[in-house]
Amino acid sequence: MSNTEIPSGLKELLQGYTVEVLRRRPANLVEFAVQHFTQILEGQKNDLKNKKRSNRSSLKGVTFETKSNKPKKEDEEEKEPVKSTTAKYNRRVSVCAEAYNPDDDEDDDAEPRVVHPKTDEQRHRLQDACRDILLFKTLEQEQFSEVLDGMFEVLVKPQDHIIDQGDDGDNFYVIEKGVYDIFVQKDRVSICVGKYDNKGSFGELALMYNTPRAATITATQEGALWGLDRATFHRLILRNNAKKRRVYEAFIECVPLLKSLELAERMQIVDVLGVRVFKDGECVLMQGDEADCFYIVESGEVKIMIKSKTKAGQPDNTEVEVARCSKGQYFGELALVTNKPRAASVYAVGETKCLVIDIQAFERLLGPCMDIMKRNISQYEEQRVALLGSRVDLKH
Ligand code: CMP
Repeated sequence: MSNTEIPSGLKELLQGYTVEVLRRRPANLVEFAVQHFTQILEGQKNDLKNKKRSNRSSLKGVTFETKSNKPKKEDEEEKEPVKSTTAKYNRRVSVCAEAYNPDDDEDDDAEPRVVHPKTDEQRHRLQDACRDILLFKTLEQEQFSEVLDGMFEVLVKPQDHIIDQGDDGDNFYVIEKGVYDIFVQKDRVSICVGKYDNKGSFGELALMYNTPRAATITATQEGALWGLDRATFHRLILRNNAKKRRVYEAFIECVPLLKSLELAERMQIVDVLGVRVFKDGECVLMQGDEADCFYIVESGEVKIMIKSKTKAGQPDNTEVEVARCSKGQYFGELALVTNKPRAASVYAVGETKCLVIDIQAFERLLGPCMDIMKRNISQYEEQRVALLGSRVDLKH
């Protein structure tokens, strides 16, 4: 077996299928495999056709500027700026279902770079909105600049559907402002599973895994988004993700909390995680703050501190250290699980690197680890009682 050459793309193909099986849990695996691979084949044929068409057109190497809120399709005429963002976004007609392997993409650098010109004021707003976007956190500066160049502004009105579950994936979105509901339809019932409140990003899954949109995202008020088209997302973010997988595969396998997950599930976590480095003594998160992230220590250490109370039960501002987390350990889950403000503050001890996962990915991907986390949460209560003498029910 050791001399057998594994055909290029086989791993990604099987991984793609495994991910889909895990996501959709089909009753008949063989029937599902036939559908899945047929879709990939169709996608490949379509892509080949599109490629030929775009080679014939003279767009190669051209930076196209458009006043529209949406990027133009390759063969779209120069006319018609998009007036309303209520209109359905430019949808790809067919799902491009091939398992994307960036290393196969020799053509990538020859693809036209999409640049949407921006005023200084727009660029400032865009930079602010993108500052904490986890998917961008591991990009090199040059790639990040390209991402910013490729983004285009999308203004939204209340009730606008930005994404509809089941549709093909066209763009990835970063939120500048506005509140957006997330609906997931299961057994024909649509359930609001969460919301984005003036920050964050969405729409990465369909572009990462070539799957239909997994949720519907609607605006509840006027807002502003920044979109990134599928091709640019592939070229920059997926390339970077392939690198991230190589770097973090071994580490993530050793994180005790994630041991019960399948390889494909662990890789999905790697795909969405960001990395943050904290200086010695820097505050990672603050007691009482609203929570939106979960952390795993990659290197270094953090200490967890709780404000003690006076005998009369009033908070005094002295902090008491209740625990430390080092390489492979996690923190920041309590507030996400209990839906409460942060119960403690966390500070870096020496330079510390953390892997960061946002609340939406935490809820989507870490469900199988919830029992372990809840067991550990019960231990926090014991710790608190021992150190501070107060019993606070952290679970409810
Ligand atoms: P995508 O499937 O491309 O489009 C819908 C987006 O909703 C999805 O990517 C995620 O970015 C986002 N989302 C947020 N919460 C969920 C969830 N629980 N399940 C699926 N998608 C979600």
